Amino acid sequence: MIGQAVAYLKSRIHEWPRTAIVLGSAQAAFADSLSGGVAIDYNEIPGWPVPTVPGHGGKLITGRCGGAPVTVMSGRVHLYEGWSAREVTFGVRVLGALGLERLILTNAAGGINPAYHRGLLVLITDHINLTGTNPLCGPNDDTLGPRFPDLSRAYCPDLRARALASAERLGLPLGQGVYAALLGPSFETPAEIRYLRAIGADLAGMSTVPETIAANHMGIRVLAFSTVTNMAAGMQHELNHAEVLETGRSAAGGLIRLLEDLLPQLDPRPSDPRPSEPRPSGSG
Ligand code: HPA
Repeated sequence: MIGQAVAYLKSRIHEWPRTAIVLGSAQAAFADSLSGGVAIDYNEIPGWPVPTVPGHGGKLITGRCGGAPVTVMSGRVHLYEGWSAREVTFGVRVLGALGLERLILTNAAGGINPAYHRGLLVLITDHINLTGTNPLCGPNDDTLGPRFPDLSRAYCPDLRARALASAERLGLPLGQGVYAALLGPSFETPAEIRYLRAIGADLAGMSTVPETIAANHMGIRVLAFSTVTNMAAGMQHELNHAEVLETGRSAAGGLIRLLEDLLPQLDPRPSDPRPSEPRPSGSG
């Protein structure tokens, strides 16, 4: 199925950007900020899973951010919708086969670290996978990567240093922390949040970790940001998805400014994502 999606996407766009961004809840505004975009609906792409959650669109978009070519996955699927970890990471693997080198993941998360506040942007430094699954379960595809990939630097230290420098240049507050991934879809209990704090988590969320594992497996470098859309259970009033979306939307501006500063530094290559033209056979 990956092969069919890759062939279809190559037929639509000849040269795919080397950087991709996955947008989480309420960050769709970023896609609107791209210039010169070409959008492909997920349901046009063979095998591509289509999200069912409000606030998650469903388009693969190529365009430019701060002048740099980028692919945006606007909308993602989650384990809690019933998709398997392999299905959740299908898009990352397809983009990997199209030559992806860097993956920037964004998400909405509950703040566990008491120093955080609603609306804060946090750079993920590491994760704790409590989803109970892993996209690498099952037979290993040795053409993608090794059976037992190392995750000691799952969130690329060099990309993180550049993100911190961009935030400083822009005067944008940027926290740093460890993201705990849970299956969801229920939010955590206050007791679970106390447990997560005790084991070293700063953030709680329901995404990002499967994609990070699949990307590391393929040698794709990962950078990830959480927007603290709420303080976690027991630390504020009761939680609801509407608040997650509203806070995510109002905080999207900072993330967009950061990415517009950061992306041009990552991909100095001048080429455009070019629509495919009919090519003589045998020319590749
Ligand atoms: N917990 C888990 N996932 C979330 C939260 C939360 O509090 N907020 C947004 N996504």
